[in-house]
Amino acid sequence: MPSSSENIPKSLNGWASTGKGKQLENLELPLKTFQDDDVDMRITHCGICGSDIHTIDSGWGPTNYPCVVGHEITGVCTAVGKNVTHIKVGDRIGVGAQSGSCGECDDCKSGHENTCSSGKATFTYNSKWPTGEEAYGGYADKWRGHSRFVFKIPENMSNEIAATFFCAGVTTYAPLKRYGVTKGSKVGVIGIGGLGHFAVQWAKAMGAEVVALSHSDKKREDAAKLGCSDYVVTSNKDEMKQHNSTLTHIICTAYSSHFDWPANLNLLKTNGTFILVGLPEAPLAGIPAGLLAVRQITLCGSIIGSPSDIQEMLEFADKTGVKPWIQKYPMSEVNKAIEDFREGKPRYRFVLEN
Ligand SMILES: NC(=O)c1ccc[n+]([C@@H]2O[C@H](COP(=O)([O-])OP(=O)(O)OC[C@H]3O[C@@H](n4cnc5c(N)ncnc54)[C@H](OP(=O)(O)O)[C@@H]3O)[C@@H](O)[C@H]2O)c1
Ligand SMILES: [Zn+2]
Ligand SMILES: [Zn+2]
Repeated sequence: MPSSSENIPKSLNGWASTGKGKQLENLELPLKTFQDDDVDMRITHCGICGSDIHTIDSGWGPTNYPCVVGHEITGVCTAVGKNVTHIKVGDRIGVGAQSGSCGECDDCKSGHENTCSSGKATFTYNSKWPTGEEAYGGYADKWRGHSRFVFKIPENMSNEIAATFFCAGVTTYAPLKRYGVTKGSKVGVIGIGGLGHFAVQWAKAMGAEVVALSHSDKKREDAAKLGCSDYVVTSNKDEMKQHNSTLTHIICTAYSSHFDWPANLNLLKTNGTFILVGLPEAPLAGIPAGLLAVRQITLCGSIIGSPSDIQEMLEFADKTGVKPWIQKYPMSEVNKAIEDFREGKPRYRFVLEN
């Protein structure tokens, strides 16, 4: 039982998706059983991630409805289990896309819980706790989960700003660091959205020169403000060609199934790295093997970040001033926010507020 409150709630009120194509509905749903490692949170904010939309739409496979999405969650701690030492009631806290892992596989033991290979990881929504209970995300009033994946928000960061670091922030920070982006690197960022606008800022803060690769001309000024030295409209073949063999890294946050692999891979220098974080709903097609070979390109994927990546990212953001550009919607207007998200309106992350 929790050490600090006798009235432990049994349910949450969440904006649940009940089927593809339907508006989210406010439903009362059960919270998991409170265990000694758990933390309860009164949710103040939750960012809207592209993954929420894929899941609402059953885009990656059937979603287990009713599903409360949202995995950029911040709030205030209202209860802690007796094993929890790093968080206390009243702390401002956050949780991202992962809420649990097996703790026993090679990945977990080496601090790479985000790639937990046991098949027993718990993601923040559309996933199960080890008890078999359903995990519900942040489009809600409350969240309960294992404290291992819960972080204290730095003192000089507000909850509304902190929220989006927990998915968009770490998903872009972790691979840019892993693949050695540094002074002298030249990084192309495909898709200037929630993930992309973080990627631009991280790469710049790591010392790199950054080029925005966008599907329209609409974000040119913003890209410059975010730190890009150049802006390329990806459908303009001549403009793309001018940048051939100039980039050391590309991070791709776009998720359209129609992707011009040859034109994009041609932008890389020999031994360049193409990091895919965007997750299209169809298998990748049209990747030219010859080009990969001749340029010796590393083509890789990356999934969110580990707890230590999240901690390190928060410290790096504090040092360098990297900060999301957000637009807030009241939680009750979540359906309007999703409609606007689908129309490509975020500049650059929508954050729901309770
Ligand atoms: N790997 C992971 O761990 C992980 C974590 C979080 C999210 N994701 C995935 O990453 C992807 C991006 O998520 P996000 O939250 O950053 O989404 P987002 O805010 O919608 O950004 C995606 C960007 O893609 C670009 N885009 C390219 N072609 C487009 C088109 N035809 N129509 C509209 N936009 C187009 C847009 O940027 P431009 O206007 O500049 O082209 C858009 O801003 C999603 O697939 C999501 O599931 C993966
Ligand atoms: Zn996400
Ligand atoms: Zn594991």
